[in-house]
Amino acid sequence: MRIVLDILRRAHTDAAPYRQRIPFETEDAGATVAAALTAINAGGIPDEQGNPVEPVRWECSCLQKKCGACAMVIGGRPRLACDARLTEFAKKGSVTVEPLRKFPVIADLTVDRTVLFENLRRMTVWLTQDAPADEQTADAAYDASRCLQCGCCLEVCPNFCAGGEFAGAAAMIPAARLVTELPAAAQKPLREAYSRRFYAGCGKSLACRDVCPAGIETERLLVNSNAAAIWKRLLRRRKK
Ligand code: SF4
Ligand code: SF4
Ligand code: FES
Repeated sequence: MRIVLDILRRAHTDAAPYRQRIPFETEDAGATVAAALTAINAGGIPDEQGNPVEPVRWECSCLQKKCGACAMVIGGRPRLACDARLTEFAKKGSVTVEPLRKFPVIADLTVDRTVLFENLRRMTVWLTQDAPADEQTADAAYDASRCLQCGCCLEVCPNFCAGGEFAGAAAMIPAARLVTELPAAAQKPLREAYSRRFYAGCGKSLACRDVCPAGIETERLLVNSNAAAIWKRLLRRRKK
């Protein structure tokens, strides 16, 4: 298989972006974009014009769809590079590889996802006491725990922008886990932050559900956590 990686590159944050087309050949039918980038960075593969290729900056850790570090825009869609097989693009003969657009670019395909973790801090998404396992919410909690914090959902979310009040599904998913697990008395700060930083801004388009590489049931968690964090409170108010 021969495929051209059409990579959007940038030497550093303030440098002008440019495209570089790098042909890659492999006998491995299961080869991924991550494998191609690794081979390119090992050296010896020139670009389409025969020019030497400087190593492409990108992040990875597990190469097993477990860490979320390799999230980027592949073929126009946010994906994990270690999960994007080149055979999907073989017919076309080339595939575009670009950095996520909702975060500042550090260099090439590496972006600064600090805002993603800052949003978890701002929403107090952490345990301050034991949260005993509850059979009724165990499935949803397990599903939420699979979030990779990769940021693919934020890439397609029409309402998320870095630095804005709305924290997006990447914050809603871990919050959804806690808001149903924490004892009621301990939920207040999280419920308030959830209401302000997620519920108020989410248009429920569910674009996030369609791109999640972990296959998390975003819709179910969204309904669960809205019920736990918002609707119960509204119902209580109406009853008064
Ligand atoms: S919800 Fe899915 S797409 Fe969003 S950060 Fe978590 S794993 Fe990534
Ligand atoms: S449902 Fe739509 S607005 Fe809400 S987090 Fe998902 S993509 Fe964003
Ligand atoms: S390298 Fe960990 S998800 Fe791709």
